[in-house]
Amino acid sequence: MRVAVFSSKPYDREFLDLANQRHGHELSYFDVRLAPQTAALADGYRAVCAFVNDCLDARVLEQLAAGGTRLLALRSAGFNHVDLQAAARLGMTVARVPAYSPHAVAEHAVALVLGLNRMTHRAYNRVREGNFALDGLLGFDLHGKTVGVIGTGKIGLIFAQIMHGFGCRVLASDPQPSEEAPPWLEYVALEQLFGESDIISLHCPLTPQTDHLIDAAAIARMKPGVMLINTGRGRVVDTRAVIAGLKSGRIGRLGLDVYEEEEHLFFQDLSQRVIDDDLFMRLTTFHNVLITGHQAFFTREALENIAETTLANISAFDSGKGELHRVGSERLA
Ligand code: NAI
Repeated sequence: MRVAVFSSKPYDREFLDLANQRHGHELSYFDVRLAPQTAALADGYRAVCAFVNDCLDARVLEQLAAGGTRLLALRSAGFNHVDLQAAARLGMTVARVPAYSPHAVAEHAVALVLGLNRMTHRAYNRVREGNFALDGLLGFDLHGKTVGVIGTGKIGLIFAQIMHGFGCRVLASDPQPSEEAPPWLEYVALEQLFGESDIISLHCPLTPQTDHLIDAAAIARMKPGVMLINTGRGRVVDTRAVIAGLKSGRIGRLGLDVYEEEEHLFFQDLSQRVIDDDLFMRLTTFHNVLITGHQAFFTREALENIAETTLANISAFDSGKGELHRVGSERLA
């Protein structure tokens, strides 16, 4: 089957080409993002393969459908960037990779916790400059602290498990508590989680209910000096509100792998350009903020699984046989 692969980086090509030896599809790689201006590249391709910052709104889907596309094969678990109603109206199937490596994302969230706690990003630069002073690097023992996990699906549960291993008390909030939750995991109301957690980590999807879940009112209910970690989706956090929270000291440390306007920034080398996103640039000025550019998923194991499941989805759609991880029963509203 002919597949137009958008936002494809060298590492995507490497892993997709390897997995495709077992599937034999005709893959055309485009390094540009899918957008109204680039959708015409997919003319004549029955399948379009897209990533998290590709635009899959109604306008783009209509362009793709007119060009003959019938399958959207997402290389991601999240599908908040797809207009599912438009896809259904246009008779398009949307497939995703439901779980490629929840360990990769949970472990990266822990890396942000550890890095921020001991300020390893500052220590690294200091030591390189011959500055061995410890002022400003003071951390705290994780042992005995309270961690709040918002969203206890595949990733949130693994994150909770790791933090439990450090000797933390772990609170959780989820409208659908997990049946696999261990007995030490305490489901509490969001209010209590905000009020008692020293560290809060976001592992819920972006939905109308979680859009700006972390806003000024939520931050006001958190413990002074709280550490906030977001590896979920950027828009779960109101960036202006966290900047105000950092300025007031209510937020003591902030770790982000996702950002609400990231599609204009992440996955590209912009080091030769002037970045005109003032909110993002303000975030980078805080010594107690650690930002990574949506790399939580980026492990060898995850890329292998993404490539294999994506191509298996395309094969299943093409042949009508095998498992197709269709987005359909899930609803965003
Ligand atoms: P999952 O579907 O296994 O779990 C999500 C959990 O969030 C479910 O238990 C659900 O009930 C819960 N939830 C839904 N609404 C909620 C709310 N209002 N409050 C609290 N919990 C709520 O998803 P998984 O695989 O654990 O992924 C979680 C999220 O992580 C994804 O939706 C995606 O946005 C993000 N992600 C980020 C990656 C990265 O590289 N930074 C990579 C992969 C996923």
